[in-house]
Amino acid sequence: MSPEPRRHALVTGATGGLGRAIASALGAAGWQLSLCHRGPGARAEALGVSFPEATLYEAELSTPEGIAGLTGALGDVPFDALIHCAGAMPRSPLFESTPAERLAAYCVHCDAFVSLAQRLAPAMVARGWGRLVALGHNTVSRLSAPPGIAAYYAAKAAQLAWARAFARQLGGQGVTVNVVAPGLIASGGMAEEAFAAMASRSPPGSVGRSEDVAAAVLFLLSNEAGHIHGVEWPISGAWGLS
Ligand SMILES: NC(=O)c1ccc[n+]([C@@H]2O[C@H](COP(=O)([O-])OP(=O)(O)OC[C@H]3O[C@@H](n4cnc5c(N)ncnc54)[C@H](OP(=O)(O)O)[C@@H]3O)[C@@H](O)[C@H]2O)c1
Repeated sequence: MSPEPRRHALVTGATGGLGRAIASALGAAGWQLSLCHRGPGARAEALGVSFPEATLYEAELSTPEGIAGLTGALGDVPFDALIHCAGAMPRSPLFESTPAERLAAYCVHCDAFVSLAQRLAPAMVARGWGRLVALGHNTVSRLSAPPGIAAYYAAKAAQLAWARAFARQLGGQGVTVNVVAPGLIASGGMAEEAFAAMASRSPPGSVGRSEDVAAAVLFLLSNEAGHIHGVEWPISGAWGLS
């Protein structure tokens, strides 16, 4: 019997805390990796050192042009999974939010995922197996946004709607689409003290680790998770539940 071909995943936001942890977990599980980073610099160089066998793609995903550049650069490479981790959380007072800021948030959190799904899913359907996972946010489905980060919440809510639309369309064709929704994960993007203050309001009284999120993603990418479609899976230690 010939060995199963090595599965190939594309991870965006791979220089971030969660993207790196997910890439590490996938690499340890034997996945071939393609990793997307925002631009040149120390973080991208460190990515190449940590994942010497991975193919690296550079893309600024906050504009339609940047997204199109990435989907074009992928060529005919057959991917088995997409994990979309790219995205920042810019803050600005509600009445100072600009169209450019709102478009950028929508592009990186939602439209990059949509465009990559459109680009990669048809080949997954043709092979009868595929996994699309977006990183959401665990309190977004309350549909109530903190005023200072409304653009971020709106973009994540749109991402969830699109993920569920893809899940409905692709269900039954071997391709699952789900959202992993972290909350209070010490992934390196926020000061430890700020997390500690938030953790005191969290039922378990502690924050999560990037590896907690990576484990959920790894499960969704498994054969065993093939019947799970359109889920928004909170990984938040019960923080934010209402
Ligand atoms: N950690 C949490 O508790 C938490 C909670 C809820 C949701 N999330 C979501 O989980 C995802 C990953 O979070 P994280 O904690 O790993 O954040 P992070 O450490 O800040 O990493 C974010 C990643 O996205 C990349 N990125 C940001 N803006 C980009 C752009 N315009 N174009 C291309 N890449 C861009 C960053 O690149 P650079 O390295 O160049 O900056 C980095 O690789 C995000 O979508 C975030 O909203 C995280």
